Amino acid sequence: MEFKQEMKKRTAHIEGILDEYLPYPEGLQKTVLTAMNTTVRAGGKRLRPMLMEETYHMFGGTRKMIEPFMAAIEMIHTYSLIHDDLPALDNDDYRRGQKTCHIVYGEDMAILAGDALLNYAYETASKAFDMADGEEIFCVIEAMKILASKPGIYGMIGGQTADVELEGTPLSMEEILFIHKNKTSALIETCMMIGAVLAGADKEIVSQMELCGEAVGLAFQIQDDILDLIGDENEIGKPVGSDEKNHKVTYVTLKGLEQSKKDVQDISMKAVDILKQYDEEDGYLTSLVEFLIHRTY
Ligand code: IPE
Ligand code: IPE
Ligand code: MG
Ligand code: MG
Ligand code: MG
Repeated sequence: MEFKQEMKKRTAHIEGILDEYLPYPEGLQKTVLTAMNTTVRAGGKRLRPMLMEETYHMFGGTRKMIEPFMAAIEMIHTYSLIHDDLPALDNDDYRRGQKTCHIVYGEDMAILAGDALLNYAYETASKAFDMADGEEIFCVIEAMKILASKPGIYGMIGGQTADVELEGTPLSMEEILFIHKNKTSALIETCMMIGAVLAGADKEIVSQMELCGEAVGLAFQIQDDILDLIGDENEIGKPVGSDEKNHKVTYVTLKGLEQSKKDVQDISMKAVDILKQYDEEDGYLTSLVEFLIHRTY
């Protein structure tokens, strides 16, 4: 219970930061700005900015320059959801408890709102350059490099490409792992790596955070596949049965429900083992990863 209260508080704090960085909807481009803002504000767990900020704090970071990066990663994540829901991809009409962006604003505006969020994410993150003092600028450069590469063709887009193209075909476990580690782990790795980099952690620690993020992301996507099968639509805020509708072979198809649940636990424990080296006893980050194992939304 105490953890959930704490999570609520930290989520509200993140929403305040997002509000600060979202664009004011005006001008002839007002429709796209409104589509961006409402989809970001619709809700969601804010897991990615939370992982980023908590990792930053775990490594001793105290500066405001983490905030534009937190807003940026949630913008990139939201863009990925808007495009993922489009008729040409998963064709879903419900997200974060509301009608999807393309249902409300039309496909044209949803495509543009996704593009806009991706682009604005970098415009937003670049504000950290003005907040950095002295040597900190090198940390911001390093963080920018991670933010530029992981969501791209060797990360999230790579995973989404395989996910979409291999729909309806029998997948091997190797292919499923490629998809999950790229479409989902890549953004979570981004968060944990940037948190560490901006706090001034060394290369070895940053690669430990990459491994940790990979495990958190893999477990997270397996749980997402589980919830797509047995979740409660009201609770998850998106349609149940989307994978089956799209003839997707998922982790659960290959391993079965019970084994998949065990794997979520085991893979999450690998992440916890890495965190143990750095997180104080019962630290928030460790509790968060443990909480995600049994998440129902
Ligand atoms: C959904 O992510 C997409 C996946 C990678 C499974 P989340 O479950 O974090 O979505 P929100 O942000 O809470 O809506
Ligand atoms: C999507 O995976 C991951 C993204 C990069 C958006 P899913 O297609 O399973 O995500 P949901 O279930 O629609 O949130
Ligand atoms: Mg998808
Ligand atoms: Mg989807
Ligand atoms: Mg899913």
